[in-house]
Amino acid sequence: MSDAYVQLLDAAIAHCEALRADGIEFVPVSAATFAELSARPAAPARATRPPVSAAPATRPAEAKPFAFVPAGTPDGRPATPPPASSPAPYTPRPLPASVASRWGQAAQLPSPSVPKSSAPAPAQPPLPPPLAPAAKQAAMDELRTQALSCIKCAHLASSRTTVVFGVGEIHARLMFVGEAPGADEDRQGEPFVGKAGELLTKMILAMGLTRADVYIANILKCRPDTPGQTAGNRKPTADEMTTCTPWLHRQIDIIQPAAMVALGATAVEGLLGKTIGITKLRGTWQTYRGIPLMPTYHPAYLLRNQAPAEKRKVWEDLLAVMEKLALPINAKQRAYFLPKP
Ligand code: URA
Repeated sequence: MSDAYVQLLDAAIAHCEALRADGIEFVPVSAATFAELSARPAAPARATRPPVSAAPATRPAEAKPFAFVPAGTPDGRPATPPPASSPAPYTPRPLPASVASRWGQAAQLPSPSVPKSSAPAPAQPPLPPPLAPAAKQAAMDELRTQALSCIKCAHLASSRTTVVFGVGEIHARLMFVGEAPGADEDRQGEPFVGKAGELLTKMILAMGLTRADVYIANILKCRPDTPGQTAGNRKPTADEMTTCTPWLHRQIDIIQPAAMVALGATAVEGLLGKTIGITKLRGTWQTYRGIPLMPTYHPAYLLRNQAPAEKRKVWEDLLAVMEKLALPINAKQRAYFLPKP
């Protein structure tokens, strides 16, 4: 094989790996090219790639790592990941040398590999051109007014106290998406204000941010009805999600954050149409209409599974988000939930 061919092959592989790291699983290839590629002998072993650059400059974090409320009163139905008795395999990936030498193997981040999907995710329409700040506010106000009077799901419109539209900074660089309001959110009209919300707030503070710095919304704007129950929760139905997600897509059209976090499997399904388990998908960058999207466990899951290893997984996902946004990360933050040496 000629050097030129090996170089080209290396460049193509590097390009595909970069796409995959961004959550792109499929690329169009003509039948002729595919046949030609399939006929080529395997490339020789490639030189090891240089490590990814280390995290951006650090500043001391004021916030404490998110602590957890006692188990037993989680808001909402059982979380989507499997029970603690069947933990997901946890494969560390190499950290940049500068970090690994300081923190050792235990500090390593989760694997970036994207699990194979049985079917390609639905095509995503591109985002519209971004709006100027004043136009953004007007568009969001208008959207909120429309959403607050939505009665597309008659059963939810009749059972809700209020529509839980979304909260936070409409110019935010980071957006969190959850599943649906629970009883607390339905009463207060704001997402994530119950027990899971308190934990999400602590997670945001641990990132060195506040709730006012980010935008928080849900796949469903109304609390899924649980007839005869004032508390409790249920997963939104496919019909409810299909009916309601256009509100969220339009919120994202307006905000156009630089990164998003999908909290739990329902958020991933609503945003990407992927029903792969969150256990497999978490920690792997996906793309929502060009926006990098990090799937992670729903805070309600962590309320039930308080093992440090589970907290660490979510924290590593958030560290990856901080890196993506070039937010400062200090040594203390890097070490949250690591076993004591
Ligand atoms: N769980 C969610 O997914 N969203 C909320 O707003 C509250 C709890």
